[in-house]
Amino acid sequence: MSPKPGTEHVVFSMPGNERQAAALCRALHAKAGKAIVRHFPDGESVVMLQEDVAGRDVILVCTLDHPDAKVLPLFWLAAAARENGSARMGLLAPYLPYMRQDKVFRAGEIVSARHFAALLSGHFDWLVTVDPHLHRIGCLSEIFSIPTVAIRAAPAIAQWIRNEIAAPLIIGPDEESRQWVEDIATRCEATAVVLEKDRLSDTAVHIAVPTLPRAGDSTPVLVDDIVSTGHTMLEAARRLREHGYRPPVCICVHALFAGTAYADLCAVAADVVSCDTVEHPSNRIPLAAWLAAGVQAEADGLRNDPARI
Ligand code: R5P
Repeated sequence: MSPKPGTEHVVFSMPGNERQAAALCRALHAKAGKAIVRHFPDGESVVMLQEDVAGRDVILVCTLDHPDAKVLPLFWLAAAARENGSARMGLLAPYLPYMRQDKVFRAGEIVSARHFAALLSGHFDWLVTVDPHLHRIGCLSEIFSIPTVAIRAAPAIAQWIRNEIAAPLIIGPDEESRQWVEDIATRCEATAVVLEKDRLSDTAVHIAVPTLPRAGDSTPVLVDDIVSTGHTMLEAARRLREHGYRPPVCICVHALFAGTAYADLCAVAADVVSCDTVEHPSNRIPLAAWLAAGVQAEADGLRNDPARI
């Protein structure tokens, strides 16, 4: 992959994103920028740019799980780059948070996805991310005022399934997962099934099972974009067992795994696998090449929203 002629990206890694930032530098032949990001003893964030960014395009790499603690240092580093004369400034955030808060579910709540998008739009010139949770919000341009590229993890997940699982049955736990499940099933030449989910609370879901194909020799592969508490995957796995299926392979894009979710899921699943948008022991599907392609597409002006890479 060659960078756009005339652009000279400097890539900064926010703490914890060093591996993805290094891969991006290799793919784009970009320079790794030096900066210190730390906290004063009272908890305030402090950044120190140690790189000449004047006139240069800057990319900050920061996946945004646990976003509240990450965004302020991120904004400070973006401000430091701007104050030191950077040209265009992009954010590569493999996981984009707050997207599930896409509706006022109960009076008094807010559509946080809109506010978060407005915040990021105020600090960056573009955003590249992976499979944002687009449900009631149809595409990122509905809420972002900057160009965005949303990379699909489906091709990489489908490739992993083709390599690792002989007779997969691709199963989505809820209607929202249909977009990933049908794409992946098509790519794997497998059957897709979508279950029905009713969310009762943060930590309780009810999953109903429509007519399922005969279990036979197939391996059930549960696919979802996010695993947070794990209850969606856990309940889906339990329903499949009740219908005579063997323990499923559980695959997600964004491995948030709150509390004991990972251990709980490992106890009922044949395997638990994730893409590497959020660092986690389950990461087995690397997306570095796709992330670099997304950044290059943005640099080439090939923004793809509402369509996606
Ligand atoms: C929402 O519909 C998402 O696609 C996931 O299904 C959801 O975030 C999973 O959450 P949890 O692991 O807490 O059940």
